[in-house]
Amino acid sequence: MKLKRTNTCGELRGNDVGKQVVLNGWVDGWRDLGGVLFIDLRDRYGKTQIVFSPELPREVYETAKKLRSEFVVAVKGVVRPRPPEAKNPNLPTGEIEVAVEELEILNSSKTPPFELKEFVEASEELRLRYRYLDLRRPVMQRNLILRHQLAQITREFFTAEGFVEIETPFLTKSTPEGARDCLVPSRLHHGKFYALPQSPQTYKQILMVSGFDRYFQIVKCFRDEDLRRDRQPEFTQVDLEMSFVDEEDVMDTMERYMEVVFRKLLNRNITRPFPRLTYQEAMEKYGTDKPDLRYGLTITDVTEVFRESDFKIFRSVANEQGFIGALFVPEAAAYSRKQIDGLNQYVMELGGKGVAHLKKQGREFTTGISKFLSEREFARLRELGKDFDSALVLLLADAETEKAQTLLGYLRQKLAEDLGLIDPSQFILSWTVDFPLLEYSAEEQRYVARHHPFTSPKLEDIPLLDQHPERALARAYDLILNGNEIAGGSIRIHQRELQEKMFRVLQISPEDARQKFGFLLEAFEYGAPPHGGIAFGFDRLAMLLSGVESIRDVIAFPKTTSALALMENAPSEISEEQLKELGLELRKN
Ligand code: AMO
Repeated sequence: MKLKRTNTCGELRGNDVGKQVVLNGWVDGWRDLGGVLFIDLRDRYGKTQIVFSPELPREVYETAKKLRSEFVVAVKGVVRPRPPEAKNPNLPTGEIEVAVEELEILNSSKTPPFELKEFVEASEELRLRYRYLDLRRPVMQRNLILRHQLAQITREFFTAEGFVEIETPFLTKSTPEGARDCLVPSRLHHGKFYALPQSPQTYKQILMVSGFDRYFQIVKCFRDEDLRRDRQPEFTQVDLEMSFVDEEDVMDTMERYMEVVFRKLLNRNITRPFPRLTYQEAMEKYGTDKPDLRYGLTITDVTEVFRESDFKIFRSVANEQGFIGALFVPEAAAYSRKQIDGLNQYVMELGGKGVAHLKKQGREFTTGISKFLSEREFARLRELGKDFDSALVLLLADAETEKAQTLLGYLRQKLAEDLGLIDPSQFILSWTVDFPLLEYSAEEQRYVARHHPFTSPKLEDIPLLDQHPERALARAYDLILNGNEIAGGSIRIHQRELQEKMFRVLQISPEDARQKFGFLLEAFEYGAPPHGGIAFGFDRLAMLLSGVESIRDVIAFPKTTSALALMENAPSEISEEQLKELGLELRKN
């Protein structure tokens, strides 16, 4: 190329008028106004208007007329002020334009399958198929640049705190996060497979045994699980581990990390310490372990109100140790029958039995199930809802407490969205703590670790492991941002006896434990320090900081929700030859 840029397309301002410049970039759009050609030239840094006059030498002007969207060009020209009526205050370069003297077409382009605008109308499939074009859009560039800055701030922060970034292997053994593994067949050892790590959990604990004291890594993790808006089969963690610490040390370091991230990236101050909710409080009040605290609409436990009710379904739930919760929804007293039916439908689709309702006006309850309720029940509801003068009261019951609470949590979120109760400019961080250590898996008919099997129980709960393991709480903590779990971690078990006990409770046999995690257990016999850590969902954090709805908008080359890579077309078949080399045969069914 002859014409190498002197400036970027986002750089020129009023005080550059008169300068001769060379710009390189893509044709963003073009207009022919009575023979004068106006083109917006775009690069990563912005857009600059360039102008071709019909008075230019014929071959320059004729070449310019051939320019189309996404052609790559180099132009030489002089910066001049735009006429007052043509100035664009919304564009940083909006005061000026470049009067072109020389033009070099560096490359042509086919017509793109969709317009590369800020708000694109193309389907996500099309965007992912032509990701290189999608990534030319300024919004995508901003997202990925913010992600880059987040990575830099992260490295800077943890390095300054004495953490060492250490890489851990991808071709490894199954790790204990509980999702399905992605497997890689071994060519040299037929019949054997590497597992891609679901997280560097075991390695980072080993690094503590090795005395690194503070480890971190920005690292890819692989989990073959059902995908959602905030999940990918390969995703990135900011993973870390610390020695000689307890919960407070880990949580304090993470709060300071978040403080720096918000200040440097969004120029916002966040208040520390972050509020803490126990798992139980979070479930009771918000129906989720990751509550969005930007709005109220908390759940009221009304189970005892209905113990002697004439409303039979509620009475039986109340007497069978189930849970009945109410949402007093102040803005929704005027909800129509149809809207309420919609909520009922929503709950049923989530597997609930539906939702009952009442309307509260002052002291009066009307409509819905009001005809089944007694004055005593109204009096109790009046007292519980005394802060609400006029409200729609939604009541949901289930024999399983967690199920009832979870459904109420979803309903709470839906109502907040429908009623516009969420301020999208707000960021609220909180901790969820005191998680149960275990949960019962009906499928496997045994207890499984809620976090992972290396998470320490609360020391005072160790005796419970023998008789009432379900009651034991974990030394685990999750960091929540606006209803999203952005990080999760725990203090670990570092003594062999306790780890063995834990495996017994989980019904992992000594042989199984040795086979799966033998190296870690062995390492623990050589002086493992007390340690703990946490991992952030880096993509999720970048998504929330960018203000976008989908994790795929902050990942350069993401997978679809059915785990496909549409641009490069993966996964794909492999040749007979490759199968043979790997010692594999495909099943026919
Ligand atoms: P955990 O499994 O909670 O903990 O993962 C940590 C964080 O990673 C994010 N995350 C995901 N992000 C995108 N796609 C996914 N499929 C996905 N799965 C998880 C979440 C989550 O909070 N080794 C432990 C950490 C520890 O104990 O130190 C672990 O991996 O934001």
